[in-house]
Amino acid sequence: SPSDPDLVERARAAKEKLGNKVFVLGHHYQRDEVIQFADVTGDSFKLARDAAARPEAEYIVFCGVHFMAESADILTGDDQKVVLPDLAAGCSMADMATAEQVAECWDVLTEAGIAEQVVPVSYMNSSADIKAFTGKHGGTICTSSNAKRALDWAFEQGEKVLFLPDQHLGRNTAVRDMGMSLDDCVVYNPHKPGGGLTVEQLRAAKMILWRGHCSVHGRFSLQSVNDVRERIPGVNVLVHPECKHEVVAAADYVGSTEYIIKALEAAPAGSKWAIGTELNLVRRLANRFAPEGKEIVFLDRTVCFCSTMNRIDLPHLVWTLESLAEGTLVNRIEVDKETEAFAKLALERMLALP
Ligand code: 13P
Ligand code: SF4
Repeated sequence: SPSDPDLVERARAAKEKLGNKVFVLGHHYQRDEVIQFADVTGDSFKLARDAAARPEAEYIVFCGVHFMAESADILTGDDQKVVLPDLAAGCSMADMATAEQVAECWDVLTEAGIAEQVVPVSYMNSSADIKAFTGKHGGTICTSSNAKRALDWAFEQGEKVLFLPDQHLGRNTAVRDMGMSLDDCVVYNPHKPGGGLTVEQLRAAKMILWRGHCSVHGRFSLQSVNDVRERIPGVNVLVHPECKHEVVAAADYVGSTEYIIKALEAAPAGSKWAIGTELNLVRRLANRFAPEGKEIVFLDRTVCFCSTMNRIDLPHLVWTLESLAEGTLVNRIEVDKETEAFAKLALERMLALP
């Protein structure tokens, strides 16, 4: 448990023994018991950007999910080893787009005669294979904090975007931030022949959205927003762009985890907030800002933690740090060279976005 003093002390001692040899990164959705040991905390963009910030560290312990650890491996030197404290910490959204499915989709676009006009834009929440596909086909990666800039860039390169794998982030950015209409978007279903779309639909679309979603954010509903507004008069509704379009449309503010934290830091005392994102972060923020008189509640009490983020717990972190301190490399995440080269191209395009 977070308060288990023995485990806290073991983690501290192992980290101290490792010294500069270890660099611990923690995503905002991590448990309190884990995040207390992070050298840097951040959203997906910040963690990708900062992964290479300590070239002297032999080990990068990534407290987050598998695709984040892969990205850190891609963006750091060969002599730096990225470690994921529990290999079962995947992401259900990233799993919704496999390399085979995406290759098949590209064949569908080619047969429809539009592949040349299409630029892939892949959300960070995707496997290294999908990032490599993106790099190979002239596309870029984006995160929830730069999706608009990535789409602006993509529409300078081509007329259409294939957005993978989060349909909600793609739709929300296109409609809310770029003035497109819902009719400009179609959803490609990898489980149906031809994606379940006609050639005419594909040719008419500007945004071809992959049929993927986040199992956590997908559970917030318009009802969640209406209920909280009724329960707490004057509440500000702030949600993550992985939420469904109707939720984002009804919210007052929308942004990445880093944006959510900054917004609450800037909020005046006495203000009230309902937050639609992962529960570990919302709880931490509610506790942090309560003394300042900011009331922060979870947008929908029936939604729960991201189960895979939560797999990284204090026992796994202790085991990882103690193993590394004893010289035993465990749970290394290593992307193969060819995949890495193309995936890096796509990630570097993102890092170079204006
Ligand atoms: P951000 O931290 O970039 O907002 O990402 C949210 C998320 O779902 C990560 O899995
Ligand atoms: Fe994946 Fe959603 Fe969990 Fe993020 S919160 S790791 S997108 S399942």
